[in-house]
Amino acid sequence: MDRIRVKGGARLKGEIAISGAKNSALKLMAASLLTDEPVTLRNMPRLADIAAMSDLLMQFGVNMNVRRGAALGQSDTMRLHAANVESAFAPYDIVRKMRASFQVLGPLIARHGEARVSLPGGCAIGARPVDFHLKGLEAMGAAIELVDGYVVASAKTGLKGTTIEFPFASVGATENLMTAAVLAKGRTVLKNAAREPETQDLGNFLIAMGAMISGLGTSQIVIDGVERLSGVMYSVMPDRIETGTYMIATAIAGGEVELVGALTSSNQALIGLLEKIGTEVKETNRGVMVYRNGIRPNAMDVTTGVFPVFPTDLQAQYMALMTIANGTSRIKETVFENRFMHVPELARMGADIQVHGDLATVTGVEKLKGAPVMATDLRASVSLVLAGLVAEGETIVNRVYHLDRGFERLEEKLSGVGAEIERLAS
Ligand code: EPZ
Repeated sequence: MDRIRVKGGARLKGEIAISGAKNSALKLMAASLLTDEPVTLRNMPRLADIAAMSDLLMQFGVNMNVRRGAALGQSDTMRLHAANVESAFAPYDIVRKMRASFQVLGPLIARHGEARVSLPGGCAIGARPVDFHLKGLEAMGAAIELVDGYVVASAKTGLKGTTIEFPFASVGATENLMTAAVLAKGRTVLKNAAREPETQDLGNFLIAMGAMISGLGTSQIVIDGVERLSGVMYSVMPDRIETGTYMIATAIAGGEVELVGALTSSNQALIGLLEKIGTEVKETNRGVMVYRNGIRPNAMDVTTGVFPVFPTDLQAQYMALMTIANGTSRIKETVFENRFMHVPELARMGADIQVHGDLATVTGVEKLKGAPVMATDLRASVSLVLAGLVAEGETIVNRVYHLDRGFERLEEKLSGVGAEIERLAS
């Protein structure tokens, strides 16, 4: 397996092109199953997870073509055509590797009237059940059985709109039910729905296909079912987690980096914190400029939560920054129960972190030291790369597979702004 080698100490200067959002692109791909007309997605990121979703959709009979962007910063364009859904079986081997595969359930029942989708099981960051998804589909009239680790769902005469209130504003459940409801009979009201920008992007994509949806970006989404949806050409939103990661990279290494194509609106919680700890963030006409001098940042507490609160997907990266801050910070994780796997690895680099339940207390140190490290989740892995940017000596990040799932050409983007980073092929 490939590894990444980082030599700490270089300041960053230049520009980084921000890719399309993984967690929107995957859902748009799944939602292309809702129409028999071609769908064209622009600004697609080139990631292992996108390839995994492509494999799954091809098993259902979706015809796919990708036009590659040639240079760094040029994205892919993908054409998906689900003229007929030939199979509605999502096998364990694919769903186990990428939980987002479970998002085909809503579109498959809506379009095909039945589906057999593997339960995802637990994963590195927690148990991650799918009970809200299943209860919601049952409330819409689907018959659901769990057979040998599979969800066997059917709604032969179609789904019916109803009101569903989620116990927690789950991103995946909101999106699965939104994609199920667009072709249902009557009105579906989703209460305590996710407000995440990617969920809004999916909603806007569905509206562009002819769906009737209101309330996107609020906690109550109303969907009036339509008879059919049409094909569409749509650009995936910029990746706010990739954007936030490079903002933190600049804050940790020092320097001046323009994130081309980035939006500030989806990263307000992080930007507010970065400004408080002494990093400047400014909108430019091409994206966002981040500037930080070489002085250690101040320590600041953070608690993760659902949008617009600070995202759990930036918690590990922010913790890497706090390991070298001046003072002590408390980082509370409220979304997933087991999302501190980066802590022992950061400790190998000399970080001082104590974990008690969902709370990590980080006491900043003057210097981190490079070490061989690895993590089992993509955001945790990238936090180790960020720590490596500022650590003395060399850090080797193992299991680069995790990074390739969610960060497009990470080492090229960082070396393009002056970081000493390279991929070591196995
Ligand atoms: C999405 O996961 C993202 N994944 C995650 O990003 C992200 O961390 C998460 O939302 C929160 O923002 C994708 O979009 C592909 P949830 P999702 O349903 O939809 C509990 C990354 O690194 N819950 O909002 O799975 C659940 O266990 C990934 O890109 C139930 O109890 O997240 C968790 O504690 C990691 N029952 C909480 O809700 C359910 O039926 C939030 O999960 C559903 C969820």
